Amino acid sequence: MKKILLRKSSLAILGSLALVCVLPAQAKLPYLKTKAERFLSTAPARPEGPPKMFFIEGITAPVPNQPASLPAKAGFDNLTNGYSPQGPEFDTIDEDNVEPTRSFNDARFVFEEVEASGKGLGPIYNAQSCAACHQNVVTGGASQVTVQRTGHTEGDMFFESQGGSLIQSRATYAEIVEHVADTDETRTFRISPAALGDGYVECISDSTLTAIRDAQPESQRGTAIEVPVLEGDGSARIGRFGWKAQHASLVSFAADAYVNEMGVTSPLFMDESTSSGLFVGYGTEYDPLPEPEDDGDDVEGFALFMRSTKVPPRGPITTEVRNGEKRFNQIGCAVCHVSKIVTAYPGTVINGGAFVVPNALGNKTIKPYSDFLLHDIGTGDGIPIQPLPEFFGTSRQIKTPPLWGLRTRNRLMHDGLSFTYQDAILRHAGQAADAASQFSSLSPSDKANVLAFLNSL
Ligand code: HEC
Ligand code: HEC
Repeated sequence: MKKILLRKSSLAILGSLALVCVLPAQAKLPYLKTKAERFLSTAPARPEGPPKMFFIEGITAPVPNQPASLPAKAGFDNLTNGYSPQGPEFDTIDEDNVEPTRSFNDARFVFEEVEASGKGLGPIYNAQSCAACHQNVVTGGASQVTVQRTGHTEGDMFFESQGGSLIQSRATYAEIVEHVADTDETRTFRISPAALGDGYVECISDSTLTAIRDAQPESQRGTAIEVPVLEGDGSARIGRFGWKAQHASLVSFAADAYVNEMGVTSPLFMDESTSSGLFVGYGTEYDPLPEPEDDGDDVEGFALFMRSTKVPPRGPITTEVRNGEKRFNQIGCAVCHVSKIVTAYPGTVINGGAFVVPNALGNKTIKPYSDFLLHDIGTGDGIPIQPLPEFFGTSRQIKTPPLWGLRTRNRLMHDGLSFTYQDAILRHAGQAADAASQFSSLSPSDKANVLAFLNSL
């Protein structure tokens, strides 16, 4: 780590010298944007080809599945899905020899690496590694860790808490731990989802997501929100990651998480979070390291890891499970929890020109049980993607979470406050009210089968 740190800080110093010497005073690098600017794209989404096959019982797929897609790799086994090589034996990798973007094992090492004060962690943060919140069965899984989000709402405007809507619950100095203001009465928890199989999700074309949306009955139709891709050319893309579908790419999410969950800045996120509005970054007694604390290698490594993970595998498929899935389809759960989606063809340019769908992830069938769209099922947490009028509608909405890997979780819904599958289903109202009431009207054995199906995912 020491070696890397030296390299990073000398790069940062060189970087700032170059900035001072070469750039005219007004010049702005793409990453030197205000938070609001960063979340507004400058160009419409790029076309990503025609929609690919998806399956919702009773709703015809818009296109045939030609050439036939292969199933995505599934497994809880810490093995690559083929996007990156497996790499050196995991146990031989350490802080000094790790090369974050060399292989799955290297990338997994940085995803698990515990940061410490003086090495970039903080000054305010939520946990010390990505894996602290994303590990269950294997690295990258979901966990019970929740984060706090707060602010307040006046009419049609949401105002974030002074240090941003994400409240960091830890700090490297006692006096700068964030506290929630009594007036910030819009409050929620958000639980940590899995990142397993997210590389396939990233490779679903925008056109497939909008085709799913358009196929949904009007009363249940999802919302596809375009968000900027931070590493791209400024063009937008349909968000699909996070409870609000607030990001479209894994590099963007990783850079966002690195600074907001761990306090490590990188070229895409150069500003340390404030402590309830108080600047605690480099130059104050709280932060010894200049930005960026990561030169971008770690962020690329996190994205490589997530892109290389397999999707969660199914549990045993019994007769009850099969019958349960039939009922799940019949009562309309699959309208949003879409069982089957095919990813874009290899070679498709996505993420504002920053990523090309690779062979390992392209034209693959995934069974996520999600449409990755936002819905109002009466559980909205009151917090929009960004505190801007154009995103206000998202305060009432939550993304349909993929149900793959559901059997590994026992705290459900965005806030983790539903303890059983049945509790989660009974919280479905609004756009899902009909499906929930159909579930309630099922015979006890049909209900048990639906629950058995859910527990096979
Ligand atoms: C303190 C816990 C915590 C830490 C540490 C953390 N995350 Fe997360 N992660 C979350 C939570 C909570 C969410 C959902 C946030 C939301 O939508 O508001 C999330 C969501 C995600 C998602 C979206 C997954 C999906 O499919 O929707 C990705 C990707 C992700 N995190 C990657 C990372 C990476 C990479 C790191 C390390 C740099 C990291 N996270 C560190 C808690 C954490
Ligand atoms: C209109 C779209 C829609 C329909 C229809 C729908 N859901 Fe959902 N489902 C959602 C959304 C959105 C969430 C997340 C809500 C939240 O976290 O607040 C969700 C969450 C869940 C969860 C919790 C998953 C997790 O990761 O915590 C389960 C389980 C679930 N749904 C099962 C069902 C079942 C069973 C049905 C049919 C009775 C159903 N859903 C119908 C949209 C839908």
